[in-house]
Formats: sequence, structure tokens, C-alpha cells
Amino acid sequence: MCGIVAACFKNGDVVPTLVEGLRCLEYRGYDSAGLAVLAPGLPVRKAKGRVEDLAQLIEQNPLPDSSVGIAHTRWATHGEPSQVNSHPHRAGSVVLVHNGILENFESLKESFVEEGREFVSQTDSEVWAALLDHEIGLVRKDGPLDPMGVMRALNRSMARARGSYGLAILVEELPGLVFFARNESPLVLGLSPDGNYVASDVQAVLARTHDFIYLLEGQCGWIDAESFHVFDRDLGEVQPEVEHLDWDAESVGKSGYEHFMLKEIEEQGIVLAQTLSSTTSSKDRILPDFRVSDDTLRSFDRIVIVACGTALHAGRLGRYILEEATGIPVDVDFASEFRYRNPLLGERDLVLAISQSGETADTLGAVKVAREKGATAVAICNVRGSSLCRLVADTILTQCGPEIGVASTKAFTAQVLAIHLLAMRVGMARRQMGEEELLRRLQLLRSSRTAIETLLSHQVRSHIAEVAKKYAHKSVYFFLGRGADYPIALEGALKLKEISYLHAEGYPAGEMKHGPLALVSEDMVVVALAGEGPVYDKVLGNMQEVKTRGAKLVVLTNTDKREAIELADDVVLIPRTDPLVAPLLHVIPLQYLAYYVALERGCEIDKPRNLAKSVTVE
Ligand code: AGP
Repeated sequence: MCGIVAACFKNGDVVPTLVEGLRCLEYRGYDSAGLAVLAPGLPVRKAKGRVEDLAQLIEQNPLPDSSVGIAHTRWATHGEPSQVNSHPHRAGSVVLVHNGILENFESLKESFVEEGREFVSQTDSEVWAALLDHEIGLVRKDGPLDPMGVMRALNRSMARARGSYGLAILVEELPGLVFFARNESPLVLGLSPDGNYVASDVQAVLARTHDFIYLLEGQCGWIDAESFHVFDRDLGEVQPEVEHLDWDAESVGKSGYEHFMLKEIEEQGIVLAQTLSSTTSSKDRILPDFRVSDDTLRSFDRIVIVACGTALHAGRLGRYILEEATGIPVDVDFASEFRYRNPLLGERDLVLAISQSGETADTLGAVKVAREKGATAVAICNVRGSSLCRLVADTILTQCGPEIGVASTKAFTAQVLAIHLLAMRVGMARRQMGEEELLRRLQLLRSSRTAIETLLSHQVRSHIAEVAKKYAHKSVYFFLGRGADYPIALEGALKLKEISYLHAEGYPAGEMKHGPLALVSEDMVVVALAGEGPVYDKVLGNMQEVKTRGAKLVVLTNTDKREAIELADDVVLIPRTDPLVAPLLHVIPLQYLAYYVALERGCEIDKPRNLAKSVTVE
């Protein structure tokens, strides 16, 4: 998935703003970057590597001043990361940047090659440029090219293109304009007194404006420095809603932290408070704005959770929370599996899609399948106006603010909180829970902030940093948990593997003797979640199994769990809390552990290799 930012200024040079915008988008993809300005010859500068490499290239080989330009940071899908494969791509009088996948690019390319067109890259995006240039060539036959002529050509190109795209386009004969089109890949327009923007994500231009238009599927149009024009698939002009976002540019910055990930781990206390306060009314009404009625909530006899990665782990924890509170059976599945297995679903199923970005292709695909089969789909999401929010009957918005680090942390906590709120809402609707119990749970969630802040304290963080240093050069990690701690074990393993590149597995503690025990050796670190609970003794037994076979044992447990403490090589003490909130707390030390192991190993923490913050392609 890639990052796009484009701008039309009333005056002044657009290049520095485009480079800054790319820096804010680098978490979306960062193997190459480039930009083009609207000036004679449509000059382009692009390079393999980071945005910094592009900035240095432009310093050495400046672009002419221009008030209009487009820019792109890439996460390669077609064609390896290279200068020639980076965007923008040019074809005739068109230069464009593309986020998405042109699925029929081979057949289109063949037809253009037969017509004598030459291609320099292996990308599908260059074929997009050729397609649009081809269609513009046909429009030119009817007379001089004007913006609506480009729209007709773009509209025909969109009809021929299959796949996802977010596009920002310059056309040489039309100075002062940036054209755009959106299908599945997100695009927003940013509006400001100094000029207007097109971007993949509000963060690219949040320092310049707080007023945005979230483009819908199939919408296209153009901006100039003072206006915007948006059209639907039939080229009917539409008047989209302008949303004012109260995120400040500072919240996108690191606020003094070395890495976004550490900042976002430490924001989890605030996130808990913000999410709870934004989803409960002053009279403790849970999700007062939730549009699915209580009658409808009573009509479901199953909940199916679909998500990917960390969001899926929140969903796996959510199964325990929802079943206990609602009395409804809950299934959980990988969105990428669910969408292709022809799931048995119907109108008595409630599908819950969980996604931080709201743009994850597999999760969106799963929701589309759920809707086709007549199920009701709702979402838990962190990005208002995202594709997921527009697909479902309603969304519980988490209030994390932007999550920049590729390794998701605060979003996980907020997702679990949102699941608690949904569980209470459904439990009340189905009369599984009375007002008194609801208030007890709400109070428990609110007071869990104290325990969260304890775990976020300098003392705990420093201790975990020491533990991480001790084991940072081990090569195999197992995270063990039982019951609601099993999803936390999965999440701890994912955090470690994605930022330290170590092999780490989350496993149900009771499963070790069914095979993985054969892997145990002195080179293995086992992280066991052994807090108070109905299966503590069982986990203790599993710890003994691995300890006697030589593994190093890091144990998360409570102060009074003497056996666990004595068995451990290293202990992380966790506050004793109600089982309702305990698993949520256990994830924090594991986030720190992953962070400090990766730091010790000198890994690139916020932008780990091969990954992207939001996987908007399959
Ligand atoms: C988590 O740390 C990873 N970055 C990844 O697994 C992520 O959770 C997954 O891609 C889902 O993203 P989403 O929440 O934006 O849908």
C-alpha cells in the first residue's frame, strides 16, 4: 500500500510541502518515493529508498518552482523497489501516482504495446498512465482538451480498469489542476485558504488543514487552488460533506519520543479514558449513538468476528468477553480465510469487523461477503470516514488518534475496550445483564486505567528493558497463555516477530505437550502469562514442562504467586485485577518487551522491513 499527496497552491512552491507530506505517509510504504510538478515538460524526481533520499536528490537536482504537484511513497507490489518502478509514472501528457493494484494491467499493456507504446517499468501503475493518456488522446479528437474532457477520459479509463486505485494526476495542457480518482484505495481532499490537497490519509496534510472530504468509491474529479469538483461514476457532479477533524498535527508527531511505537504504547491510559468517555453518555448509556436497535441485537443468534493481525487478536479476546456477556456463541476467523471459504451466514448473524485503519483489503472483502449473505455487519475502527465505516451498518469508533507505528499497540487496547462496550450493549439488549452489572463493569474498565498507568510506569518499563537486553539475542520465543490470555500470547508473539524479526509463536499453554515441547532447548525463551485465574495451576504445570527442558522462563504474574516467581528466570509483576480486565493489562509488558528487544537488536522499529501500516491490497 502506498502514500499519495498532491497540492494546488494559490502561490509559493509546492515541493517542500509535498516532501513533508510524504514524510508523514512513510509508514504506509517506504521502499521508494517520487514527485512531479506542473511545469514545462512535467519534470519528475524519483528515487529508490526513503523520502530522505528523495529530498537529497531534489536538493542536488532542484525542480522548477511550481504551485502544483503530486508525490508518492511506495510499498512495492508489481516490480521490485527501484528508481524506474517508483512513482510518478508518465505516459504522453499524463503524469500520475497510484495506490492500489491494476488487476488487468497485462492485457491492457499488451494492447498498448501492439499500438507501439513503450514502457520503461514493470509496474501496473505505468499502464494506468498509458490507459489515461490513450483515452485523453481520443477526447482530443473532438477538440481542445478541457477539465471535463479529462473527466470523460478518466471515467472511461475507470470503466476499463479492474482493481483498486487511488490516483493523483497532472495533465500537461491543464495548468493549475490536479485530477483524482478513487476505488477501494482511500483518498481525501484537504481544503485550506492557501490551497487544496489530495492525499491517501489526512496525516499527510494535517499540519496545513483540518477540513477534509473523504472520497467515496468511484468518485473522481479535480482540485485547483481555490475550488474542488467531485463527480460520481456517471459524471454527475456531487457536493460532498466537508468534515472538520480535531486531530492536531502534534498528535501525528512523536512528541519527543524516539519512536512512534513507544509513544503509542504510553498513550494507552489516555486512549482508555478517551474511548470510554466518547462511547458512554453522561448517564452511562453505552454507545448512545449506536444505530443497530436493541430489537435487532436481540434477533441475532451468533456473532462472527473477522479481522487481520493484531485486530484479529483483539477479536479472539473479544470472543471470551462477548460470549460471557451476551450468551451468544461467537466465532472468530481470519478475514483472508473467511472471505473465500463461502461461510455459512444469514440474517441471524452479526458480523463484527475490527480494523484500526478501516482500509485492510481482506477485512473489507470479508464484510462484503457477509453483507452478500444477508448478515448484519458492524465495525470497530479508528479512522472515521474509512472504507470500512462506509461498508457497515454502524461503527464503534475507537479514539486512539492516529496510530503511526506499524506495530499496532494502542489500537489493540482500544479495540478490546470497544468490544467490552459492545458486549455490555448487547448483553443489556438481550437482558443478560442488568443496570447494576453494567455499571460495575463500566467502573471496572474506568478504574483499570490505574493498573495500566502502573504498567506504563518508568519502573516497569526499565525492568522490562533489562529483561529484553538479557534475551535479545536468543533466536526462538514462545508466548504461552490459557483462556483469555491465549490471544494475548498471540499478540505478544506478533509484536516481537514484526519488529525484531525473531521467530516467535503464541501458543495455548496446554498445547505444548502435543508437539512444540520438542522444540524446547536452552536457546528458547518462554514468556508465560501466569496471573491469578481459574487455570493458573495448569499454566504453572506448563511452565515446569518447559523449564525442566532448559528454556529460559519469563513470567508475568501477581506478587502473591510464589511458585511462579520461584520457577521464573525473570518475573514481570502485574497488578491483580478483575478477570474482566486482566488480559487487557497483560499485553502492555509484552509490547514493551518487543520494543526493547527490537531496540537492542538495532531494528527499525516504526517501519519494520516488508510491512506496511495498512495492507490495502490482498
Ligand atoms: C499489527 O501490529 C500489524 N501491523 C498488522 O497485523 C495489523 O494489525 C493488520 O494488518 C490489521 O490492520 P488493521 O487493524 O488496520 O485492519
